[in-house]
Amino acid sequence: MDHRFKRWRSFAGALLLLTLFVVAVGSAQSVQYPQSTLHPRGDFALMVDKLFRTTLLWATIVFLLTEGALLFVIFKFRGKPDDPEPKQVHGNTMVEVIWTAIPALVLAMIAVPTVRTIFRTYEVPKGADVLQVEVIGHQWWWEFRYPQLGLTTANELHVPVGRTVAVKMVTQDVLHSWWIPQLAAKRDVFPNRSTTLWFKAEEPGDYPGQCAEFCGIQHGRMAFQVIAQSPEEFDVYVGRMQATAVRPAAPAAPAADSTAVAKPTAAGPALTTTTLAATTTAEADTMPGSQLFMMKGCIGCHSLNATVPMGIGPNLAGIGRRLYIAAGWLENTDANLAKWIQHPQTVKHGVLMPDLGVTDAEAQSLVAYLRQH
Ligand code: CUA
Repeated sequence: MDHRFKRWRSFAGALLLLTLFVVAVGSAQSVQYPQSTLHPRGDFALMVDKLFRTTLLWATIVFLLTEGALLFVIFKFRGKPDDPEPKQVHGNTMVEVIWTAIPALVLAMIAVPTVRTIFRTYEVPKGADVLQVEVIGHQWWWEFRYPQLGLTTANELHVPVGRTVAVKMVTQDVLHSWWIPQLAAKRDVFPNRSTTLWFKAEEPGDYPGQCAEFCGIQHGRMAFQVIAQSPEEFDVYVGRMQATAVRPAAPAAPAADSTAVAKPTAAGPALTTTTLAATTTAEADTMPGSQLFMMKGCIGCHSLNATVPMGIGPNLAGIGRRLYIAAGWLENTDANLAKWIQHPQTVKHGVLMPDLGVTDAEAQSLVAYLRQH
C-alpha cells in the first residue's frame, strides 16, 4: 500500500512539473524571449513557422494515436495471475503492410510542404521595389551595405516595414551564420561563395539577430539588430546617413567639442545618457575628439562617412544613435562607449581593436565626438 502511494506521489509530481513547463513555455512572450523563433514577425519567418506547425500537428496526431493504442493494449490485455501462456505469433503480412504504409503517408504529408518551403526560401524576390542588402561577416561583427543607396553601416540594419529585403551574404574571414529569429531563418555565410536570404518585416520593432555558427572566442558576442521602421522613418534614416558624406571629417573647433562633453547631442531616446564629468583637470590639456580620432589611429580602421565602404573596422556613421556597440550586445551608453574605446581587449577579448592607451579624459572627448555622429 505504502509502495503504491509512493509511486502515485512521484507520478503526480512529474505531472505537475510537466504542467508547469507547458504553462511556462506557452506564456513566454516575444518581449521576454526576443530570440525565439516562435514569435514570427516577417513573411519568411511565418512560412517557416507554418511548416513547424504542420510538422507538429502530424507528430501530435501520431503520438496520440500510437500512445493511445499502446495504453489501451497494455490495459486491456494485462496479465492476470492465473492466465495461461499467450498464443505465440510470428509474422503478419497485413499488419506489416499497414505499419509501413501509414508512416510512409505521414512522411509524405510532411515532406511535400517541407521541400516546397525549402525551395521558396531560395526564391529571392526581384524587382525595383526590393531593398538590396549585402551582409559581410567579420570576426566578430557584421557589415551591412545598401548598394542601391550607396550606404554602409555595421551591426544595426535599418529596414522599412512592408518592403521585401533581399540579402546577399559573404564573409571576410571564417564561417558565420546570419540569423534573425523573428524575421528569417538562419543561413550560413561563407568566405568563398555568396548565400542569399530574404525577408519582409510585417511590424515595426527592434529585432535582435545573432551569429549562429561558431566562429571564434567571441562568437557569442557577434550579435546585431534589425530595426524595422515605417517607410517615412526609414527615409529619414537614409537621409541622415547620406548626410554623413558632406560633414567635415575634422571640424577645427575644439570649443564645440568640449561643450559637447557636458551634453551629448545626438543621443537617441532609447539611450541612457550618463552625464560625464566635463571638467576634470586633465580635460584642459585634452585634444578635441575630432583630432584624437585621427591621432589615436581610430581613422585607420573606422569611417565616419556612411558612403565610404572601408571594412577593416565597423563603419561608425550614426554610432551616436545606435542602440548597442561592440556588435549588438553592449548597451550604447557613454560609460560603456568610453570603456570600449579604452579597454577593448578587456570588454571583448580577442577583437582586432587594440588597446591604444587612451586616457579617461581622452575617452570622454572621443565619446563626445562620436555622439555627434
Ligand atoms: Cu560569427 Cu559566430
